[in-house]
Amino acid sequence: MWFGYVVAVALTVVGFVSLDLRAIALAFVMLVMTVLSEWYRGRQAALAAAADAADLPDTVSRWARGWAYARGLPRPAAVAGGVRVEVGEPGRSVEWVATDEADTLAGLVDAVRATPEAWLSVVTESPAGVRPWFLEGGLTPNEAEEALMSIDLATHEVRELPEGYRAEVERDGGIITVTVRSGETTAAGGTIAVIGADAVADRIQTDPDHRRRGLGGAVMSLLASAAREAGAVRGLLVASEMGEPLYAGLGWHVEGRLVTARSAAPRTSVESRHG
Ligand SMILES: CC(C)(COP(=O)(O)OP(=O)(O)OC[C@H]1O[C@@H](n2cnc3c(N)ncnc32)[C@H](O)[C@@H]1OP(=O)(O)O)[C@@H](O)C(=O)NCCC(=O)NCCS
Repeated sequence: MWFGYVVAVALTVVGFVSLDLRAIALAFVMLVMTVLSEWYRGRQAALAAAADAADLPDTVSRWARGWAYARGLPRPAAVAGGVRVEVGEPGRSVEWVATDEADTLAGLVDAVRATPEAWLSVVTESPAGVRPWFLEGGLTPNEAEEALMSIDLATHEVRELPEGYRAEVERDGGIITVTVRSGETTAAGGTIAVIGADAVADRIQTDPDHRRRGLGGAVMSLLASAAREAGAVRGLLVASEMGEPLYAGLGWHVEGRLVTARSAAPRTSVESRHG
């Protein structure tokens, strides 16, 4: 955009120095076009942001569907305000995942409180606005915050595998798994579940001894590329606090923060809950 202003200024200077009215007129046209095009881009960005906000409940349910598929869980059931997933883990028998609509949040908090070993995850722009709902509803909030992220897979950064490692890509139906090894040691890996145009990444991890060498980025690149080959267009995931900067650097953007609470006090601390 700055290029348009630079050309307009240059033409104005040339016009005044050489007393060339055509150059001054051209500078004026250039200036008007640059301002109009800047306004148009701003308007398109605002419209896209508004559409994204309206799509959030749909994004949440698509992520939950892919996440459940990636973990071999039953397909989530639609409920008012979100979805309900039968997780079936100790301490986490069922999980509601929802947006922060005030109309439905109170009912979900009540349902979670009344269900043993239940979790409620809320995608929101304002975690501080949701936590009081948890506390007043008698739930135990998790301290860690996660992020629901998405990407147009065609724009995913490509990171090569560092030297000394090899990667295996396995496909089982719509589930694609990448495993990175160094000799006989498993150093990193992850999964992506493809459902139609969506690909949901899950369980991305690097062994602590192999972190910060580029393996996480390489695993994500391989998963994104395999998911595109399988027909996916859009990537979705829930990022841990450790994962979020890595994904942001690869081109993923945050759709909303994810805050979670439980119907009973947590027994163990869990580093990554959804990713
Ligand atoms: C998140 C996680 C998968 C990242 O794995 P990783 O192999 O360390 O990832 P990378 O090495 O590709 O990138 C991690 C960081 O190291 C940096 N890095 C990459 N290569 C590097 C190198 N050669 N030297 C120094 N830093 C390097 C990256 O820039 C990145 O920095 P950033 O986080 O500030 O953006 C790993 O920390 C992990 O398993 N955490 C626990 C589980 C978890 O939270 N998983 C994510 C679930 S969503």
